[in-house]
Amino acid sequence: MKDTQIKKLIEAEKKRQKKVINLIASENYVSKDVLEALGSELTNKYAEGYPRKRYYGGNENIDKIEELCRKRALELFDLAEGSAGAQAGKWHVNVQPLSGSPANVAVYLALVPPGGKIMGMSLDQGGHLTHGHKVSITGKMWVQVPYGVDKNTEIINFDELKAKAVAEKPNIIVAGFTAYPRAIDFKKFREVADASGAILMVDMSHFAGLVAGKEYPSPFEYADIVTTTVHKTLRGPRSALIFAKKDARELDKKIDKAVFPGMQGGPHMNQVAGVAVALKEAKTSAFKKYALQVKKNAKVLADELTKFGWRVVSGGTDSHLVLVDTWMNGEKGKNGRGAVTGKEASDRLEKAGIIVNKNAIPFDARPPADPSGIRLGSAAETTRGKKEKDFKKIAEKIDKVLRGEW
Ligand SMILES: Cc1ncc(COP(=O)(O)O)c(C=O)c1O
Repeated sequence: MKDTQIKKLIEAEKKRQKKVINLIASENYVSKDVLEALGSELTNKYAEGYPRKRYYGGNENIDKIEELCRKRALELFDLAEGSAGAQAGKWHVNVQPLSGSPANVAVYLALVPPGGKIMGMSLDQGGHLTHGHKVSITGKMWVQVPYGVDKNTEIINFDELKAKAVAEKPNIIVAGFTAYPRAIDFKKFREVADASGAILMVDMSHFAGLVAGKEYPSPFEYADIVTTTVHKTLRGPRSALIFAKKDARELDKKIDKAVFPGMQGGPHMNQVAGVAVALKEAKTSAFKKYALQVKKNAKVLADELTKFGWRVVSGGTDSHLVLVDTWMNGEKGKNGRGAVTGKEASDRLEKAGIIVNKNAIPFDARPPADPSGIRLGSAAETTRGKKEKDFKKIAEKIDKVLRGEW
């Protein structure tokens, strides 16, 4: 690279990534092949439209890449014609969304009239901004009907959820979160959607890699729409997919129209190629092993921190994600743990070479800028080959750092 300023900064970032222990739950490390696709000449090409229906010439190779990416996405989740299982042939996928947020907006644009209701988990309980929060376009164009978790169990309370959905009649219900460590009961969400006449959208951004590796319940049996980022547990480039059930409602056609021309112009075809590469990798037995290890490692992290005396939200994890209450109401617990704010915890850990993010816990009494907890994830370090014994050591280090003994 001739641009030495940027080259130096890329090198510096590469070094930083190598040096730290990365517990950011939404990050991962892609393969060299994915990087190669991202850095390819495909970025030069305009391809507005869809395969064989483009607004520009010269798309014969691009069409093949987009078709292959779609095929791989459907195959990975057993949705392709001829796949095993009840969902084969029943789904369409759009591979063009530039990232998770625009993918979610495209779904609402397609299926929720302006001013309509999006029932989503509130941000402070684990939802994402694009599930209808007021600072996001999704809370300005549409109205959020918020829901959350039970105060005691910190798990979704379906009785409350159902009563609210039936009373509010949202156009769409969103399941799938940003800071919720537990397995989601998609069947129960289906029942709530049916009882309230809503479309059921699952945003599986966080746990898509675990669904691919069959280590987390699949939403496809119950959802009408499934969105996902590709760059978290699924270990692909920054990008997103929208799956739509094919039936008389023509959700698939509405989604395609909303993505282009509704939301976007030309797709980023270097990204689409990178997604295709990652989806092929996710179909391997090595990826399946990784998905299992991700879960094992997160469990070790949750168990060890609990043993030390930290409070793990909901008492554990069924995924890659662990939410730790480091503040514990500002009191030191019986083992001397607690009374560390989320910001303090994250800052101290970063100084010790462990990268996490501060995070609100359900019913947090502290402000979002300095909440009561931190969110940890095991995917990135699992990609680097770490196993249970390594995560045990990581938990020990976290405990020491948070107690000020590092
Ligand atoms: C559940 C969920 N949905 C959507 C997104 C948005 O993805 P992006 O940052 O690619 O816009 C995120 C990002 O963290 C997320 O956690």
